[in-house]
Amino acid sequence: MGQVASGAKSALWISLLHGCLFLIAGSGTDAPLDNTTMDISSQRFRSEFLQEWHGAQDAPYFDPSTPRNITGLVGHPVRLLCRVKNLQNRTVSWVRHRDIHLLTVGRYTYTSDQRFEAQHKPRSEEWALRIRSPQRRDSGQYECQISTTPPIGHPVFLNIVEPETTISSGAELFIQAGSTINLTCTVRHTPEPPTSITWTHGDQIINFDSARGGISLVTEKGLKSTSRLLVQRARGSDAGAYSCGPNNAPPASIRVHVLSGEHPAAMQQGCAISCLDFSVSVIVSILTLYTLLPKHLFGT
Ligand SMILES: *[C@@H]1O[C@H](CO)[C@@H](O)[C@H](O)[C@H]1NC(C)=O
Ligand SMILES: *[C@@H]1O[C@H](CO)[C@@H](O)[C@H](O)[C@H]1NC(C)=O
Ligand SMILES: *[C@@H]1O[C@H](CO)[C@@H](O)[C@H](O)[C@H]1NC(C)=O
Ligand SMILES: *[C@@H]1O[C@H](CO)[C@@H](O)[C@H](O)[C@H]1NC(C)=O
Repeated sequence: MGQVASGAKSALWISLLHGCLFLIAGSGTDAPLDNTTMDISSQRFRSEFLQEWHGAQDAPYFDPSTPRNITGLVGHPVRLLCRVKNLQNRTVSWVRHRDIHLLTVGRYTYTSDQRFEAQHKPRSEEWALRIRSPQRRDSGQYECQISTTPPIGHPVFLNIVEPETTISSGAELFIQAGSTINLTCTVRHTPEPPTSITWTHGDQIINFDSARGGISLVTEKGLKSTSRLLVQRARGSDAGAYSCGPNNAPPASIRVHVLSGEHPAAMQQGCAISCLDFSVSVIVSILTLYTLLPKHLFGT
């Protein structure tokens, strides 16, 4: 008895939580919560609660191994998978939450968007939604639904990502002459690891066997690839734009400033703009002096 009661309690909790998540997900989109949204939410609340409560033996249910979060790459086919047990004569549909759009019903594709396709092998428990060429805007909440009365649903979050390159130190790096320039370039979300990651300084490709010496490159390839560039004993000529270019992701760049130790205070404040202001005002003062002085001298 106690077990049944606590089971029902936790089912109630899960359903409540579900309802809340649904509301949060709904408020994330710009569309206001309308009657339809509320209806689906309360229907689901009722259905899931009642399912657990009755423990009906022959009711259809979602296999717990059905994924809830899928990550795909822009332009590469992705499959949202739904595993249903004990379906009998019910149908399985895929719905997109963003616009409550019915995408598939059973083996049929309902949307006019040619990129979507219902996939199902006869007598299999898998009902998939395939998106042929997903875009960033396809990211969001989807739901696999079973046509019980009321219907029950299994939410799946789809995250579509793009190849991305970043350099860890940000857009600018200020270092003291004589210290080591240490730049780490990270490449994420590529279909396979990049075959090459090329560093350039200005328009020169960096070779660790260049005349400059003291340059090393360490590249690690994998799900997330990194390339670390170390330039020892930095000097003035090492300043400038550095860029990291993987063969299969956009490049990233950073501007390196090599300080000769004159303005350590400004450097500590990370002075991207104030340093510029400072040097501009120095130049302006010198020019002013230069143009004013002779006039004074010759005018009197
Ligand atoms: C919501 O539905 C109820 C009936 O279910 C109806 O009376 C009401 O006008 C609807 N509200 C909106 C904003 O559609
Ligand atoms: C889904 O997975 C991605 C990465 O695997 C993660 O960043 C994201 O937070 C997850 N989303 C949810 C709703 O769990
Ligand atoms: C499914 O089968 C049951 C009997 O097993 C029947 O009562 C019900 O109407 C059927 N539903 C559909 C949608 O065919
Ligand atoms: C370079 O920086 C990374 C962290 O960004 C650090 O783990 C690594 O030890 C540094 N390498 C050297 C040689 O300073």
